[in-house]
Amino acid sequence: MVSSVPGGDASFTPSGPLRAVPGTRFADVRWVAETGSTNADLLALATAGRPEGTVLVADHQTAGRGRLGRVWTAPPGSSILLSVLLRPDVGLEHAHALTTAVALSAIEACETVAGVRPGLKWPNDLVVAVPAADGAERKLAGVLAESVLAGRRFAAVVVGIGLNVNWPDDLPPEIGDLAVALNHLTGGPVDRQKLVTALLVGLERRYAALLATDGRMALRREEEAVSATLGRDVRVVRSHDELVGTVVGFEPDGALRLEVDTDVVVVPVGDVIHLRPGSSSVGAASPSASPMPLPASRGQPEDPDPRSISAGQNHDA
Ligand code: BTN
Repeated sequence: MVSSVPGGDASFTPSGPLRAVPGTRFADVRWVAETGSTNADLLALATAGRPEGTVLVADHQTAGRGRLGRVWTAPPGSSILLSVLLRPDVGLEHAHALTTAVALSAIEACETVAGVRPGLKWPNDLVVAVPAADGAERKLAGVLAESVLAGRRFAAVVVGIGLNVNWPDDLPPEIGDLAVALNHLTGGPVDRQKLVTALLVGLERRYAALLATDGRMALRREEEAVSATLGRDVRVVRSHDELVGTVVGFEPDGALRLEVDTDVVVVPVGDVIHLRPGSSSVGAASPSASPMPLPASRGQPEDPDPRSISAGQNHDA
């Protein structure tokens, strides 16, 4: 079966039997062999009026989008390349919580399905300390949210995740030291359908919590509990400067609280590099707080910063 998507370029040849996740709002799961970008396709469907809960999964993307304008690439059939369409009736200050709900659900899915518990590197990367690399952290997954706005609220948010599942042992040299896949950690292949189902079951719970004012604190606590960034010495690369300091917490909107000398600087957007003990002294590097950038009307709710240094299968476009 082949069907078309308004504005999208997916050849809709279903390649997996998963069609819906019972007991969740994810009642329309489309799993296709190949498309350009699942985020781009779902944004087109969102604009065409498709309801919340539509999910698009691809075995392969030819124009995968990463954060900060980067390209996201993965070998065909090797990954979870998934986007969900949400229509949350919340203010824009909850953009970070939406991406975090997906990241946390992916962490839980990795643990229950593969026995691997990744950490959450701010803002939304899943990372694992790899024993074979002397405990160096490598990127397992990344999350990208793109939105359609209605004034100061969301008309739609598409949250996409790329999760490395069954990758070849020999990674391309440009990412070999940066990325890792679940099969590298388990020693055998991991079932992608089970991961997708577990992720969507977890997302249903966390998304419901996010929509209810009294559920949001639990989400923040969970983010803090799995954070690989909280308490760490880091270098933060922003569009206009770099900061080196210690992460002392998160703002309610998800921004980083960075202690630089005796000041606490709030960092809404930036690329974080975790410093290994002794790798760099913590101190000022042109500290200055920047205002929270407003999301574009059809853009990423966070991270308009165009610079590129994060690990994983990102490449500058
Ligand atoms: C990052 O740069 O870390 C975020 C990467 C997000 C990639 C996923 S793959 C599925 C979805 N579709 C896209 O085009 N991008 C996201």
